[in-house]
Amino acid sequence: MSQNPNEEKIREHTFDGIQEFDKSLPNWWLFTLYATIVFSIAYWVYYQKAGIGLDQEQELEAAFEQISENVAKAKAEAGVLDDDTFAVMAKDPAIVSAGQTIYTQNCAACHGQNLEGGIGLALNDAEWKHGANPLAIKKVVAEGVATAGMPPWGPVLGDEKVNQVVAFLVSKQAK
Ligand code: HEC
Repeated sequence: MSQNPNEEKIREHTFDGIQEFDKSLPNWWLFTLYATIVFSIAYWVYYQKAGIGLDQEQELEAAFEQISENVAKAKAEAGVLDDDTFAVMAKDPAIVSAGQTIYTQNCAACHGQNLEGGIGLALNDAEWKHGANPLAIKKVVAEGVATAGMPPWGPVLGDEKVNQVVAFLVSKQAK
């Protein structure tokens, strides 16, 4: 056995005439290994266990949601009034609470304090005789149903308040 110039221990086994020093792994290598282990645990907790991180599909979904929200906001700013803009209004607490006040004062007598119905139809269920989408609801509220005892509210409340009360109804709409 030849003398090791650095006097480092040589391991006893020989394989095909090859011998090895008995050295520990370099620190940079070990720390890299430990770092990957720590990272993998953190990654696992973040994405799998705690569900904080979004996976690709959820990210895509969130992005699409953001896009349609931006489109709806842009439409609202441009004064376009359609089902999307009502959906945005229905998430605006100021508009919804204004709509609720209008509802309590003008609609609750027939449609119930909690939209449960009475003389008028229930507005908290999934059944919409005249259509469930916001524009259809707005049409009924604004124009009424003369033959069935639903008064037209457009002339009484004006357009803005009709929109607010419709946004309130949309915010309460059963999905
Ligand atoms: C005098 C009673 C009365 C009042 C007050 C009244 N409604 Fe109605 N409403 C009715 C009746 C009755 C109907 C059912 C019409 C029908 O059968 O076609 C109705 C229908 C509706 C519908 C359609 C429901 C559906 O299933 O398609 C909406 C929406 C609605 N009312 C909203 C309102 C709002 C908002 C107000 C307040 C601004 C209001 N109503 C006030 C009596 C009333």
